[in-house]
Amino acid sequence: MRYAGVIFDLDGVLCSTDRFHFEAWKQTAREVNAPFDERINQRLRGVSRMESLEIILGGSPLSLSEDEKLRLAEEKNERYRALLKNLTHSDLVPGAEETLAALRAAGVKLAVGSSSKNAVFILERLGARELFDAVCDGTMILRSKPDPEVFLKAAEMLGEAPRRCLVVEDAAAGLEAARSGGMDCAIIGGADMPFEPEHRIDGLGELRAIVLG
Ligand code: BG6
Ligand code: MG
Repeated sequence: MRYAGVIFDLDGVLCSTDRFHFEAWKQTAREVNAPFDERINQRLRGVSRMESLEIILGGSPLSLSEDEKLRLAEEKNERYRALLKNLTHSDLVPGAEETLAALRAAGVKLAVGSSSKNAVFILERLGARELFDAVCDGTMILRSKPDPEVFLKAAEMLGEAPRRCLVVEDAAAGLEAARSGGMDCAIIGGADMPFEPEHRIDGLGELRAIVLG
């Protein structure tokens, strides 16, 4: 076995909630007169809610108080949670269930490592909470990706050393977090990254060969 533990990012890896984040932030951007498109949305991947807001506000002519920022973030989250209500088991990405079961049967420990404070809610909607030995999310950390805290804590929850864990990510912030935590990383999809990860995959099904091979 090449890795004893696998730590999965949630948004963009196990399910595509990114389109819901995009929709919910779009209205915020409109309210503060800031530009917003797919390219800006890419920069929000993996980073916390408040840091995402700061990135959007970077394009706004307004200067807001902390209270106004909190209100905008809260309203965005309400819109986002309303969209999440439509999630079902069928939104778990293809191949996830089979792959996770095969890895687990081989004795590999599995965790979620997500910056999201909605991670448990999402996993429950997907009917996927029971597929993991541990969930480390945005409610349990002080610093979000690219800081490695969420992955280091997930490895600790699994009882595995970071160098024996593989991180599965879709975002540059997540790749950087894995690298500074001393973990290998598999990037799903072909997005540009600041440096090449140890593995590139097109689907979760490819993890079996990488992890068990
Ligand atoms: C990450 C997403 O998983 O969670 C980010 O990739 C998001 O785009 C972050 O900002 C925080 O999410 P939440 O659900 O706590 O607002
Ligand atoms: Mg992601």
